[in-house]
Amino acid sequence: MFVIAHLSDPHLDGSVAARDRLRRVTAYLRDFSRPVDVVLVTGDLADHGSESEYAEVAAELALEVPVLMLPGNHDVSAPLRIGLKEYVESPGEGHPVHQVRDVAGARFVLLDTSVPGEDHGLLSAESLAWLTGVLAEPVEGPLFVAFHHPPNELQHPVLDQWILQSSEPFAEALRGRPVTALLAGHVHNGLATSFAGLPLLVAPGIRSTAPLPFEPAARDGLVDLTTPPGLALHVHVAGQPLVTNYRFLTSTSQ
Ligand SMILES: [Fe+2]
Ligand SMILES: [Fe+2]
Repeated sequence: MFVIAHLSDPHLDGSVAARDRLRRVTAYLRDFSRPVDVVLVTGDLADHGSESEYAEVAAELALEVPVLMLPGNHDVSAPLRIGLKEYVESPGEGHPVHQVRDVAGARFVLLDTSVPGEDHGLLSAESLAWLTGVLAEPVEGPLFVAFHHPPNELQHPVLDQWILQSSEPFAEALRGRPVTALLAGHVHNGLATSFAGLPLLVAPGIRSTAPLPFEPAARDGLVDLTTPPGLALHVHVAGQPLVTNYRFLTSTSQ
């Protein structure tokens, strides 16, 4: 059994409120009787992308298990590479911060879908060519492709403005490849859908939730701070479908 703790959007900014919500999740993970195999954080690690925020991210996510991270639209490549050098292994410098990481027999292709200074996502022709090459490599175990911006509309009138553009060539790069699942964040909602015939599993936003317009929490606007922070636990067993559990943490597990 291979278990991924999938976190997203902690938006650390030096505030106690943001830190406490992430700590609720990390305290919960530390209390497991069987540690997860890997922690994956799908972007918006920091809120403004400053070096001090990345120092905070590095400290708060110093766990006993491998931790993988990728950038979101709130992240900034240069300070991210410096502040998270213990976590991020990406060739080159600056933007984009793509990675291929192998953990306990599973391969993670971590894409940087951010566009500096913009909220929407995009994969350039160069990034798509890189992805096509990586996905052509033979893999033995499960293969996950993770990124920040979901590539298809999620029927949310506000967030759908800021999804990944270039979704057609992205789907083309994925088709026919042995991808177990696509893992994303950005929309601050735990949800499951599909893209290019593959499961697309989105982790809840740790910092906040973005309610659908007809939900009670939407009466106060786009950002819901009352829903507790959450995460996804993806459980993989060879030869069987991936199982995803969503958890929302009303208080620390201690
Ligand atoms: Fe976010
Ligand atoms: Fe985002």
